[in-house]
Amino acid sequence: MKKNSFWNDDFHIEEFPVLQGDHDVDVLVVGAGITGITTAYLLKQAGCRVAVIDQQGVGGGETAHTTAHLTQVTDTRLSELASKVGEDAARALWEAGRLAIEQIRDLTTELGIECAWGEVPGYLFAAEDKDVAVEVPDLENDALLATKFGFEAHLLESDPFFGRPAVRFPNQAKLHPTRYLAALAKEIPGEGSHVFSKTSASGLEADEHVLRGDKGTIRYGTLVAATHVPIQGAKGTFAAALFQTKLASYSTYAIGAEIEPMPEALFWDTDSPYHYWRFDRRNDGAGLVIVGGEDHKTGQQSDTEGCYEKLEKLLRQKIRGARPTHRWSGQVVETPDGLPFIGEIAERQFLATGFSGNGITLGTFSAMMIRDAIAGHPEPWTEIFNPRRKRPAALWHYLRENKDFPVRFVKDHLAATTKLEDVKRTTGAIVNIDGKKCAVYCDEHGKRTILSATCPHMGCIVKWNGAEKTWDCPCHGSRFTSSGDLMAGPAESGLETVESAAAQAHH
Ligand SMILES: Cc1cc2nc3c(=O)[nH]c(=O)nc-3n(C[C@H](O)[C@H](O)[C@H](O)COP(=O)(O)OP(=O)(O)OC[C@H]3O[C@@H](n4cnc5c(N)ncnc54)[C@H](O)[C@@H]3O)c2cc1C
Ligand code: FES
Repeated sequence: MKKNSFWNDDFHIEEFPVLQGDHDVDVLVVGAGITGITTAYLLKQAGCRVAVIDQQGVGGGETAHTTAHLTQVTDTRLSELASKVGEDAARALWEAGRLAIEQIRDLTTELGIECAWGEVPGYLFAAEDKDVAVEVPDLENDALLATKFGFEAHLLESDPFFGRPAVRFPNQAKLHPTRYLAALAKEIPGEGSHVFSKTSASGLEADEHVLRGDKGTIRYGTLVAATHVPIQGAKGTFAAALFQTKLASYSTYAIGAEIEPMPEALFWDTDSPYHYWRFDRRNDGAGLVIVGGEDHKTGQQSDTEGCYEKLEKLLRQKIRGARPTHRWSGQVVETPDGLPFIGEIAERQFLATGFSGNGITLGTFSAMMIRDAIAGHPEPWTEIFNPRRKRPAALWHYLRENKDFPVRFVKDHLAATTKLEDVKRTTGAIVNIDGKKCAVYCDEHGKRTILSATCPHMGCIVKWNGAEKTWDCPCHGSRFTSSGDLMAGPAESGLETVESAAAQAHH
């Protein structure tokens, strides 16, 4: 089975240059995923000069790992969301999803993007091990509330695939995310606008409205942080950093398989964490399915390989003869109240994050909101998604998610370590070298990479992720390759290499 997503396998996004020379733009967008690229595209259409930078490249983040269900149906069940944030805010979030689907459809049509766009029904169905007597009234409540908010929703005794009680939501959608992203990105350069790859925001000096890279600078009027998790910048008051601890990072897993052709549809069960299914077809008509789930807080699962095993078992149970071809995982970020953070966090600094499993739609919606705010159009959504909102109902959730930080910090610093010589080939472990906790990876030839195990974000000890061969931080979800390179923040640099006498002696 290939260890990458469908979207990176059959398609490669064109490379953009690294930042060179001095540039002046109206808006600097950091992050070239769905959020950043759509924001830049819409701003350019509105007449702004924009620059997008990404420390990796276009589609280097979670947008290439998504399963791309385009739906207004949120990860948090509608009745739960309404009781947490109120009916107006819950309805607004669903409307945001709806508007985003329409925006993506329009862009796909206007630009003639070949990205397997299609409208499909979505089904929220009672998970198999759940009691139908409890599940049906809950599903009915969700259907009634959705209808009250103006969304089409039909309660079914039995869904067309799993045969379970369900709610059917017509007119949801799906697409090939990297093809879509690449087509939008291609439209950005020119007329004073740019896309730069391999360009980090670490040289951001927010007070001076300038980004200094090794070979160039970008002066900007407004900054948009579209980095999935907020970043900090080198100097100055980049306000996004304040939001890092308000978010919880979860890992989620997906398996893609060939199957007999099926009617295209999206399915989500009512388990917690839930499983998600996308029944699809390739251009040649062959059947595909992607099943996802087994979520856990990033860096807090010892048996990450087991997550794939459970998913594969479920796939084979439900679809006899399924032939798994791809597997991949990624991160979703959650907010305390289930609403994203979208808006202006300091003068001329915008942030868009906390999309949970709805980032393709909510990232697109953020782009629309930010475009309107920068263009000075009145915004009915501003207060609802305001990153600075305070809701007492969310406080408990906030505390629950963040209790991990002090607990993990102390526990992992005191935890037992492995002996250097006991680190097995193709695995990683935490080893005490010269009194310092080190993250040691031993490759298939026996060569060891020895790094500091201390996460550069706020000092927690990273944990080995055996399935992906990465170091993951249990506190706020930063991730690093086995050679220590940064994969995902909030950390903004990689794990330091350790060069001690003791470490060298063991080589
Ligand atoms: C397995 C899985 C399934 C999912 N399924 C769905 C789904 O069905 N439907 C849905 O709507 N959503 C889904 N999601 C969520 C969705 O994919 C994400 O929320 C969305 O892609 C986030 O887009 P983004 O542009 O905000 O972030 P990203 O795509 O992660 O882009 C952020 C970019 O910022 C860059 N960056 C970060 N820090 C810096 C820095 N300091 N300097 C420069 N650049 C930086 C990164 O390199 C990255 O390219 C899923 C996610 C996963 C992992
Ligand atoms: S991500 Fe915050 S300490 Fe590692």
